[in-house]
Amino acid sequence: MERTLVLVKPDAMQRGLAGEIISRLERRGLKIVAMKLLQMDQGLAGQHYAVHKGKPFYDSLVEFITSCPVVAVVFQGKNAVQVVRRTMGETDPAKSPAGSIRGDLGIEVQHNLIHGSDSVENAAKEIALFFSNGEIVDYKRDIDKWVEGE
Ligand code: RTP
Ligand code: MG
Repeated sequence: MERTLVLVKPDAMQRGLAGEIISRLERRGLKIVAMKLLQMDQGLAGQHYAVHKGKPFYDSLVEFITSCPVVAVVFQGKNAVQVVRRTMGETDPAKSPAGSIRGDLGIEVQHNLIHGSDSVENAAKEIALFFSNGEIVDYKRDIDKWVEGE
């Protein structure tokens, strides 16, 4: 089953929205298979956002993501990567549809509340940055047949 990495970003932590954000993804039917609170350092932020190195917003992005602890979650489910991305909305909350996390809770591009992996390949890399294999717990829920089919 597909897995993806979600980070509850510092703006959401400061605003007390971690539960709201995780809850929306959980209610969608996705299963939490790993979760932790951590303070990202420059090294981890540099690895996580390596693809954005050199872009004008890179330095402020690293400063922002390391400004307070974040909650990292691995969600598992059918098409988990795309389902999370759609539930998040667009990168810019102002352009995100109402009903999405960013569209309902934000208005500014840097403070967009949540990170979600953008491909299955990147999800695997990002999950490995934040979690060891032993920290990811696969398990069966009684409701899986209702959200995932047989
Ligand atoms: P994320 O990686 O955090 O899930 O967000 P994303 O895929 O929707 O956006 P991405 O293009 O990967 O950009 C990463 C983060 O950088 C900040 N950003 N700022 N000032 C700007 O124009 C700008 N563009 C991007 C956002 O915080 C974005 O989530
Ligand atoms: Mg991205």
